[in-house]
Amino acid sequence: MKACKTLLLAAAVAAAGAAAAANEPPVNAGPYVPSPQSVVADMLKLAEVGPKDFVIDLGSGDGRIVLTAAKVFGASGFGVEIQDKLVQLSNEAAKKEGVADRVKFVTQDLFKTDISKATVLTMYLLPNTVNMLKDKLLAELRPGTRVLSHDYPLAGWIPEKYVQMDLEDKVAISGVTTTLIYLYMVPAKVAGNWNLKLSPALGKDPIRIDLKQQLTRVSGMARVGGKEVPLDEAKLRGDKLDFRLVTGGKVMNFTGSIKAGAIEGVVESAGVKTPWSAAPAGK
Ligand SMILES: C[S@@+](CC[C@H](N)C(=O)[O-])C[C@H]1O[C@@H](n2cnc3c(N)ncnc32)[C@H](O)[C@@H]1O
Repeated sequence: MKACKTLLLAAAVAAAGAAAAANEPPVNAGPYVPSPQSVVADMLKLAEVGPKDFVIDLGSGDGRIVLTAAKVFGASGFGVEIQDKLVQLSNEAAKKEGVADRVKFVTQDLFKTDISKATVLTMYLLPNTVNMLKDKLLAELRPGTRVLSHDYPLAGWIPEKYVQMDLEDKVAISGVTTTLIYLYMVPAKVAGNWNLKLSPALGKDPIRIDLKQQLTRVSGMARVGGKEVPLDEAKLRGDKLDFRLVTGGKVMNFTGSIKAGAIEGVVESAGVKTPWSAAPAGK
């Protein structure tokens, strides 16, 4: 009975803690400072945003990033913003500009927003906030999602592209003309051991690869018939994996896509292309 009471008390304390956390005011991720319109256009161009994209802006201000993505690039999406007045302005602008069927703006804490629908995620937030969001981006965004950050990098992530320019408009905002745009691509998870399935023409020894991963960086070894061979030029870009394996006098160039826990692709050797696949070892 005493143990039962203790459990009930612990549950009540945990529930009270959760309720308190739910009622806490949102963390201020940055003041309202709109990105200059030329930066908005450059960000969306850098990510090659198009009609198939769903753009989410975290801390959407007056809505200009999502509105431009819809109006100029044909995308759909939404913006989240804690300042209700800015959200109202953004929704009115969406109506006025004829894109309200494709974009909307909500008054919501960006840290509590489900971002899993994004194919492009944008932010212009304080540097510490950008980095507070790293785990959320990896947990919720699909591999291949493009992430754009105005001015502040995601520490430890290697950008796909990076643009630096000088803009007079920025002096009023940050005191300097320097403007940076970082474009990242969310990496798939590939770390671990994989058993390869190849055309018998490429050799009869079973091949197992062991991939190590640190965000977008991958490296690895292959075990081919009891011998260890390093993988050359391993590259991960979203859900696309490339590497080269030189074994048994053959040079094999692998390209593949990681989907639903398996890898499938094409391997080229001596000018001949054949399919290959890989499944996690032990399955
Ligand atoms: C620097 S402005 C960027 C506006 C817009 N994204 C742009 O680039 O023009 C950052 C915005 O984030 C909003 N913001 C700050 N903390 C937030 C939070 N926890 N949830 C949602 N919005 C937030 C601010 O109100 C502000 O409008």
